[in-house]
Amino acid sequence: METLLNSQKKRGGPVLFSRYKGGEGIHKAFEMGRENILFEVKTSGLKGRGGAGFPTATKWMLTAASVSDKKFIICNADEGEPGTFKDRVLLLEYPELVFEGMVIAGYTIGANQGIVYLRGEYEYMRKSLEDYLEMMRKENLLGKAIIGKTDFNFDIKIHLGSGAYVCGEETALIESLEGSRGEPRNRPPYPVNTGYKGHPTIVNNVETLASIPHIITKGGEWFRKYGTEKSTGSKLFSVSGDCEKPGVYELPWGTSIKELLEVVGAKDTKAVQIGGASGTCVPKSQFHRILAFEDAATGGSVIIFNENRDMLKVLKNFMEFFVEESCGQCTPCRIGNVKLLEGIEMIERGNYTFTYINNLKDLARTMQFSAKCGLGQSSLNPFLSILENFKDEIFNPCRNGGSNGKAS
Ligand SMILES: Cc1cc2nc3c(=O)[nH]c(=O)nc-3n(C[C@H](O)[C@H](O)[C@H](O)COP(=O)(O)O)c2cc1C
Ligand code: SF4
Repeated sequence: METLLNSQKKRGGPVLFSRYKGGEGIHKAFEMGRENILFEVKTSGLKGRGGAGFPTATKWMLTAASVSDKKFIICNADEGEPGTFKDRVLLLEYPELVFEGMVIAGYTIGANQGIVYLRGEYEYMRKSLEDYLEMMRKENLLGKAIIGKTDFNFDIKIHLGSGAYVCGEETALIESLEGSRGEPRNRPPYPVNTGYKGHPTIVNNVETLASIPHIITKGGEWFRKYGTEKSTGSKLFSVSGDCEKPGVYELPWGTSIKELLEVVGAKDTKAVQIGGASGTCVPKSQFHRILAFEDAATGGSVIIFNENRDMLKVLKNFMEFFVEESCGQCTPCRIGNVKLLEGIEMIERGNYTFTYINNLKDLARTMQFSAKCGLGQSSLNPFLSILENFKDEIFNPCRNGGSNGKAS
């Protein structure tokens, strides 16, 4: 097993891309026992890498405390956020970390089944993942009585999504897994109590799970040596856009935007979209800000725009995405995103009033607390941040040959 693993390695990084020997995490976890695993995960301060940053130890403890004859571990590999492609790298190059993270989670909370919800567009990697799972079964790292632990059976299956962004939202994902339309559920109840098929379920991002074997083998204190007090460890950033070296980078939380731009060879940068389409657009004057949950938070997507980019076009592109991807279940998101897009088209034509644009900003703020799920609660972020931070460019009277906007 190690031969195949090592033959694939080509990256370096302090935590996730640091040395790891396949199988080590499971062996160590069994030696430690459930209580100590939870203790180390809590000590590490690990927060969910899927975007929301929920403390992983708390999620695991809640699911462990839920009483049920069945429990499930779901690995969220939907990776639909525009500009995010770091989970793809983990699954392709470091499957041992992801799958072993699932086994350790299953052992800790008393689950016997793990499911990887794999983004539809990642179908091409299914075969290599299935091969890896088969190899783990042969090594008895999956299956019955894993490495002699007679009271623990665990296996993992892969379920392919169909390409809907909203299915990355954990309750929509569960609906989709159950064979229903991928629409978010009302919460509470939360998946930790009532998840897949009504049973307690952990839904964790690929990167969150991939951090676990490192935390178990090297310790929670080792992990929290990296990053900041509130954002411990390192983060994988998917960097795209106007730079010389786009790609996946492992950097400690707390790295400033300016530092990241230097690492990836970005020049004449005007704006950086942090957190994908649903994130925030940061202008040059704020490049001192740090990548961390307490400042510029991101599930990993960093999109760079240089001075030649038209920020209104950037914004339009994001809003078209949300209009397309809204599941339509609740009015603030179904109608709200369409109205925001119409507003952008009015600005494009130079046919708007500032009163109307201000009304749209109010609508955006209303969506933030009235939409049912994270999609509609965050789709307005680029609308507010781009209009605010690039108002001189967007509302420039010269934009449409002098016909831009009426100040009423
Ligand atoms: C519209 C939408 C899409 C999402 N897409 C993903 C995704 O592709 N991958 C992911 O891990 N989390 C995604 N999330 C967050 C999940 O709902 C959930 O918070 C996450 O999987 C929990 O894992 P974590 O605690 O390890 O971060 C999405 C949320 C929303 C609202
Ligand atoms: S916010 Fe949007 S995606 Fe979420 S439930 Fe409402 S309509 Fe569906």
